[in-house]
Amino acid sequence: MCGIVGYVGHQSAVSMLLNSLKKLEYRGYDSSGIGIVDANKRKIAFRKDQGKISNLEKMLNARPLPESHLGISHTRWATHGAPNKKNAHPHFDTSKKIFIVHNGIIENYESLKKDLIKKGHKFISDTDTEVIVHLISDFYNGDIFHATQKAVKKLRGAFALGVICEDSPEQLIAARIGSPLIIGVGDHENFIASDVPAILESTNKIIYLKDGQMATLTSDRVDVFDFDGKPVKAKVDEVTFSVDAVQKQGFDHFMLKEIHEQPAVLEQMLKARLKGSKVSLEGLHLTDQQLKDVEHVFIVACGTAYHAGLVGKYIIEKLARTPVSIDVSSEFRYRDPIIDKKTLVVAISQSGETADTLAAVREAKNKGAKVVSICNVVGSSLVRESDGVLYTHAGPEIGVASTKAYTAQVMMLFFMAIKFSQIKNEKGSALTKDLMAAMKELPALYTSILKSKRGIAQVARKNSHFGCFLFLGRNINFPSALEGALKLKEISYIPAEGYAAGEMKHGPIALIDEYRAVVCVVPQSDIYEKMISNIQEIKARKGKIIAIATEGDQQIKPHANHVVYVPRTHELLTPLVVALPLQLIAYYISVQQGCDVDQPRNLAKSVTVE
Ligand code: M6R
Repeated sequence: MCGIVGYVGHQSAVSMLLNSLKKLEYRGYDSSGIGIVDANKRKIAFRKDQGKISNLEKMLNARPLPESHLGISHTRWATHGAPNKKNAHPHFDTSKKIFIVHNGIIENYESLKKDLIKKGHKFISDTDTEVIVHLISDFYNGDIFHATQKAVKKLRGAFALGVICEDSPEQLIAARIGSPLIIGVGDHENFIASDVPAILESTNKIIYLKDGQMATLTSDRVDVFDFDGKPVKAKVDEVTFSVDAVQKQGFDHFMLKEIHEQPAVLEQMLKARLKGSKVSLEGLHLTDQQLKDVEHVFIVACGTAYHAGLVGKYIIEKLARTPVSIDVSSEFRYRDPIIDKKTLVVAISQSGETADTLAAVREAKNKGAKVVSICNVVGSSLVRESDGVLYTHAGPEIGVASTKAYTAQVMMLFFMAIKFSQIKNEKGSALTKDLMAAMKELPALYTSILKSKRGIAQVARKNSHFGCFLFLGRNINFPSALEGALKLKEISYIPAEGYAAGEMKHGPIALIDEYRAVVCVVPQSDIYEKMISNIQEIKARKGKIIAIATEGDQQIKPHANHVVYVPRTHELLTPLVVALPLQLIAYYISVQQGCDVDQPRNLAKSVTVE
């Protein structure tokens, strides 16, 4: 949610910033801007425009900025103020000496703004961000670091900040609370950014700035401080993923690339986690006894991660017979949930920066629960706030629609469920043994589904004209239906509802007529016949049925208008195999509709505001 990049070094700041900013466009694309200090005149200059970064690029080509070695840039996902040029970052103070870029929300901006206006500061945007720069300028008496330090102490809410001042043409300042910010340590150049992919072409040496920390960067030095100005020894990590991981590598879209990465992701997870007949939950930081003592699991997550968590509820309860509750994080945080020391809270998040999930974790910890997270992004805020972490290591996910992160999260929940089950029943049940054997087959099954993607694309195209979709599933595939609907609506803007098939006749069946397409997730299982009955009810009302069924299932054919087959697997693993065709159906419909697959309207990859 908003992307920030800052640069100080020996190269051209404008081209470095523009190139890096493009890698963060997944975080927001309502407007973008660049502010620099002119290397010769020592004056600040900027360009900003509404819309995607390509608009800014055109503007920079038409009206280039002067030579510079220090600058900040921003791509915006609007919160306060419309997505227009006036509200685009960077924002500047009344004297236009100081520029800032910001990611987050300043909760006390209205009262600060009133005071600053009284003191003569002139505001020109509708953003909360603008108060920060005026506040810095209010404290400024020639030392931009100290002015920023004083200002951040007055702010309430979440922020990651980049600050430059024309009086300090060699210095970049950064600060954070609540919103992600990293420092890239280069060779005679240093960076700040919201996320690693932005700067990976230049450096893989990263400092993860912590909440309540600030930094000063020059081309040859990085110094980290707390908000009281006390120096902090910062650890420099080396990230291991390559530049290739954040490029499309010949695929039309990141989403399609990430769908294709799933066999490899599952393969590496199996290698890392399955150790003979045991499961390794390295990173969890809980002893077997502590796990045995868990009386209640509470999962918190948002969006797709929540759907993964729902699958987790079914499997943990089935395998370990431990009760599992689950909430979307935004509900959990405000409803005083019942949790205590015997509760294990599992927070699931691809980015590890989702504001609601972070708040839910804090709430859970306040109530005395242990918190473990399932997360993809190394060093993210969620990881730092959890007692233990199970990394999915699915690699960077750039497409706004989550695909490989989802299947990796579900896979990790299987590992968790098996471990729980083995701890409670030391000999290990036949069920867990069967499951582990079947899990090893998953990468090959995924590869075979991907080989049949042409057929899935055809089904998608033939049905892309429907103005409304329903997705139905039962039992462990009820979450699959929810996830299928979310995928479709977020990237094609077609209204799509996910429903428990048995719940249809309690309301949603009223929607069914010949103009609705109904995707029925109906793999072979104990409740197959029940699904068939539900499908017949839809057919009787002329709904058009796309069935996702198990290879070899002939019985489904007369009931469905289209059948997409997935390979046979263990019944409990079916959410993992049906996920692929659901992702592909959404993808191909979005392409057919001419939508922006990777950057759908109004969305951002990382939701760092409430
Ligand atoms: O980074 P997180 O997993 O915490 O993100 C949660 C949701 O914002 C995310 O899954 C969102 O629903 C995706 N756009 C779904 O494809």
